[in-house]
Amino acid sequence: MSAPNKSFDPVEVSTLAPVYLDQQVTAALDAIANASDLDELKAVRLLHTGDRSPLALANREIGALPPAAKAEAGKRMGQARGAVNQALEVKTAELEAKRDEQILLTETVDVTAVSELSLRGSRHPLTTIQEQITDVFLALGYELAEGPEIEAEWFNFDALNIAPNHPARTMQDTFFVEHEDSGLVLRTHTSPVQIRSMLNRELPIYVVCPGRVFRTDELDATHSPVFHQVEALVIDKGITMADLKGTLDHFAQTMFGAGIVTRLRPSYFPFTEPSAEVDLQCFACRGASVDNPSAPCRTCRSEGWIEWGGCGMVNPKVLVACGIDPDVYTGFAFGMGLERTLMFRHGITDMRDMVEGDIRFTRAFGLGG
Ligand code: PHE
Repeated sequence: MSAPNKSFDPVEVSTLAPVYLDQQVTAALDAIANASDLDELKAVRLLHTGDRSPLALANREIGALPPAAKAEAGKRMGQARGAVNQALEVKTAELEAKRDEQILLTETVDVTAVSELSLRGSRHPLTTIQEQITDVFLALGYELAEGPEIEAEWFNFDALNIAPNHPARTMQDTFFVEHEDSGLVLRTHTSPVQIRSMLNRELPIYVVCPGRVFRTDELDATHSPVFHQVEALVIDKGITMADLKGTLDHFAQTMFGAGIVTRLRPSYFPFTEPSAEVDLQCFACRGASVDNPSAPCRTCRSEGWIEWGGCGMVNPKVLVACGIDPDVYTGFAFGMGLERTLMFRHGITDMRDMVEGDIRFTRAFGLGG
């Protein structure tokens, strides 16, 4: 490589000539002055200060100059670039201010405008009551247990001692999945969770099992093909029907008020023995409407009691099916419909109000629980 040419005159390098540099600076300052927004200014910046800009290209020539010439050319170049950069800075600030002002203008909120009321949803009362009930039992030391909505027929029927020819097992009551002998159904009650709990949990068992269940009913004022139940199951040593009754009474009082009790009427369920229907003392008239035509009660139709659910002592056959020794352990179970509970608790007369999701219905129950 040859040594730097000491006699080289920077003025001879055309791109470093003061006239050329002045031209470039003038062109840059004009372009900057004409930029009307930040995008345009960005393009101008690239064109006049970028790597391929005339000033940047001229700057590269400085390196080849002899030392004496370098200083002078460097100074001139510094002034040129400084002028352009400063103009860019000033213009940037100006355009940013303009943009901010524009944003403030377009995003102005007219606080005097009439607002449009938009209805906000609230939690569905079924969700709320389900949580309330679960909380009652969690407070008693129960655990929450859940099972699948698509259930094995064995859990939904067989293990619960519901014989293959039981009417509940026909297609008139049960939604089958795929085809009738797939072995799968949409669970018709929450009782299969009893079986799952007995098979999966350590004894003693205290569980509460809320959930969605399915039956082939047409939707009308009192039926829905999809509804909710809550089930409770207790298996321990020395559990008697007195424990069942006491638990139901406690449950009734937490849901319907102090002093409200339950009544058991003999009944039949294949998975409990003995079995009973649970009636709730009417929380509206507390029985005062019975035989008293002058004060009729709409809640209990002046009967004093309201049908609430089913219950019983777990059938020893079911215990055996789940590998539990019925000579050592006994238990009780009960289950009730949540829609029904909600209907008589709140005087809801049409089941359809609960499934249609109309905000005017849920809103009446407010937020949360
Ligand atoms: N599973 C029963 C039904 O759906 C209710 C029930 C639950 C009865 C627990 C007894 C014990 O009708």
